Amino acid sequence: MTMLGTPQHLIKRFFVSVFDQGYDKGIESNLLALLNGREKSLYYSQPRMDRLHSLRNAKSVIEETQTGYDNSLVVAAALHDVGKAEANLGVFGRVFATVLHGILPIEILESWNTKEGFRKNTYHYCFHSERGAALLEEAGSIPIVVTWARQHHNKQPDGAMTAEIFALLKRADQK
Ligand SMILES: [Fe+2]
Ligand SMILES: [Fe+2]
Repeated sequence: MTMLGTPQHLIKRFFVSVFDQGYDKGIESNLLALLNGREKSLYYSQPRMDRLHSLRNAKSVIEETQTGYDNSLVVAAALHDVGKAEANLGVFGRVFATVLHGILPIEILESWNTKEGFRKNTYHYCFHSERGAALLEEAGSIPIVVTWARQHHNKQPDGAMTAEIFALLKRADQK
């Protein structure tokens, strides 16, 4: 199983959201122009906290690659966490789910797919990489977008993307 972010990272993201840091209308309109209709729906399905995260990711890729940025990488950076939306957890629920993810056997977390309430939400949160990749595939996203959603919590690329692109997108996700 992949590693999720740390509780500290989640809390930082929450406060960034509360104080509205990172909402960049220019980046958002650039991003929306790159998305197909179903990708736009996935973008808007995210809670505000995650849409801000999408925009910071997109901005990081644009700034790092300057004039030669690759549109597909901007989309990949922006949409990698869309699988989280189904978890429907607030920041404290996410922190708790992240702690459980670190201490419970994977078999137990997988079995929560058949439960209801917090356990079901925790299942969706813990497996949001796989779910996001599936949603993006259904939305007709190109392979790099689907691959990054699937791999974004990995420590290394598995061969479906170059180490350079993996590192670029990873840096964006950690800001
Ligand atoms: Fe994630
Ligand atoms: Fe992320």
